[in-house]
Order: sequence, then C-alpha cells, then structure tokens
Amino acid sequence: MTIKISWYSHACFLVETGKTRLLVDPFITDNPLCPVKADEVEADYIFVSHGHGDHVGDSVPIAKRTGAMVISNYEIQNWMTAQGVENTHPLHIGGGYDWPWGRVKLTIAHHGSALPDGSYGGNPAGFLFYIEDKKIYHACDTGLFYDMKLIGEEGIDLAILPIGDNFTMGPDDALRAVKLIEPARVVPIHYDTFEVIRQDPEAWAIRVQQETPAKVTVMKPGETIEL
Ligand code: NI
Ligand code: MN
Repeated sequence: MTIKISWYSHACFLVETGKTRLLVDPFITDNPLCPVKADEVEADYIFVSHGHGDHVGDSVPIAKRTGAMVISNYEIQNWMTAQGVENTHPLHIGGGYDWPWGRVKLTIAHHGSALPDGSYGGNPAGFLFYIEDKKIYHACDTGLFYDMKLIGEEGIDLAILPIGDNFTMGPDDALRAVKLIEPARVVPIHYDTFEVIRQDPEAWAIRVQQETPAKVTVMKPGETIEL
C-alpha cells in the first residue's frame, strides 16, 4: 500500500496509511503558509516533537475535537493532560511503541522545548516512523548532530529535514545531515514561514543532488507525495 504524505508547511505533515491519519506538529492557525484550517483537519494520532508554539500549534483543539491520541515526550504529555486532552501516549528519547498502523520511535534533537505558557517541555525530539515497509525520519527542529549516522543505519526511505537556519540547521548543515543519514529521498522543511528563515529550497536541492545520491523533493504547502 502507498503512504500518502501531505505537507502543510513548516514542520506540519499529514501522513495517511490505509484509513489512519497521522498529524505531525500541527502549526496551523498562526502559520501564514498553512493551506488548511485547524477546524477542518482530521486526525487519528497527533505527534508533537517539542513544546514550542510553532509545533504544539493547534494540537489541543484538534485533539479535543477529533479524539485523536496525542503522542509526545512524557513532559508534554503531562501538559496535554492538564489542558484537558484525554487521549495521550507518552514516549521518550530512544523509545518506540507499536500501534496497529506501525511504530514510532523518538530520536534526539538538539533544540529547546519550553511550552507556550512557559511550562517545562522536557527534551525536544525527532520522530522515526516505521510504516508498512518504509522508514520515515522527521528530524523536527534540530541542529546537526553526528548521531544522525546511527539513524541512517536503519535505512531511511524519506528524511524530512529543516533547512531554515536561525532556529535549526541551515542549508549547509542540512546537506551534511543528508551525507550522514544517506536517505533515499529528502524533503526540506522549516523555511520561509518567517522572515528570519527565508531560504531557496531549489538551490539546496541542486546541491544535495550534486553531492549525494539522495533524491530531493521540494514540496509546496498543501502538496501530497506518495511513498
Ligand atoms: Ni522549535
Ligand atoms: Mn520550530
């Protein structure tokens, strides 16, 4: 079966596998590039990588409206419960869990994780999804780290990497990340949402394809690819 992956800009994706919808980092209402509305998005599971507002986004109202399970680190899971979200599952770095649609493991990410109200949000994370026979690594917000090589050893079909600079890896370090991970395919994210993270993803794609065997797909907000 094919996995459908739609990019809603920034770090937000909707992954559809069979009838299951996985929503990642739903930064929708305050996101100037997001092509969908928070009260129209459907999800069965919501993943929150860290506590920052551009990742927690609309996860609380979407979870309450849809009943979707929120999956995050333990600290953010506690915060979600305090916000009245009833269906949650805590994970932590290096740990994975099997759901009927597949597995997800939290990976390290070098970043911050304070929640919008200043609450402690634990350590930031990335996600390694194992869906059907595919492995998708969503790095979320992070700087470059050499252990990306360990993640790459699993054999990554799709790596979703920030290129925006300022808050995360910029284009140069994201290119080094591709060399460490050696994914079959790459999608750049976390750029152009704000003035300070303006980038040229097409120029980055050319560099990556000149220096690595990875295929780069530059997505437009709202676009869907199949894996
Ligand atoms: Ni962040
Ligand atoms: Mn961010």
